[in-house]
Amino acid sequence: MNLVVGSEVLVAGKWMKKFVEVLADKTALIARSLEVVLTQIQGAIQEQGWCTIALAGGGTPKPLYEALASQELPWDKIHIFWGDERYVSPEHPDSNQGMARKAWLDQVAFPAANIHPMPTDGTTPAADAQKHGAQLQEFFGIQGGEFPSFDIILLGIGDDAHTASLFPHTEALQVVDQLVTVGNKDGQPRITFTAPLINQARCVIFLVAGANKQPALAQIFAPEADPLTYPARLIQPQGELWWLLDQSAGQQLKT
Ligand code: 6PG
Repeated sequence: MNLVVGSEVLVAGKWMKKFVEVLADKTALIARSLEVVLTQIQGAIQEQGWCTIALAGGGTPKPLYEALASQELPWDKIHIFWGDERYVSPEHPDSNQGMARKAWLDQVAFPAANIHPMPTDGTTPAADAQKHGAQLQEFFGIQGGEFPSFDIILLGIGDDAHTASLFPHTEALQVVDQLVTVGNKDGQPRITFTAPLINQARCVIFLVAGANKQPALAQIFAPEADPLTYPARLIQPQGELWWLLDQSAGQQLKT
């Protein structure tokens, strides 16, 4: 039984379309996520000739990436980015880039130029965050101070309600004048999109599975809670916001 809720929420003077779906189990969650992502990819290509998608890391989206690898899509019209990255090489087992390449990108004919990883080999995480910000500005043809609109940004949440690498009570939550910044997970540096960049997206899709995410979801969906404590609350995109949850994660949710 899927709980499906669609609503429109006024955010900063704009109507954001919000969808919340609770799927029977992880398999159904991945199948539904594939449908939603394919619809968004095809819509973007139909409208503008290409699609920009920023991938989430962690474990939840991996089967979605594996499912996307079995699709027949115009890979040359799709540009891949990441919403965050652990500060390790792509060969490291923790690398979000490495995970997505193994599960999807290296399994299909993506032109190398269409894959835009976050750099993690510079002098410092701050330098690499700055570098990636400049790379995004060049790709989207924008100047400093402008925020580009990704067609799709995939996200997950941690048990602590972090998203991307925007962790509770960290400096990254306060960065509103940059596209990319340095995240901090228990002292370990990450590279992450900022909340304002994520919120500029045309479509943000959260994929959440597992009962361990229930307490975080309760706070994220609560009428009032501190976004610095529950950073996923900061994500209020100007476009569509999708919450795709499995039953274990979403069964207690009051939407
Ligand atoms: C990362 C992710 C992070 C992830 C959540 C959920 O780099 O780890 O971007 O934000 O989405 O931690 O991770 P799971 O899907 O493994 O629960």
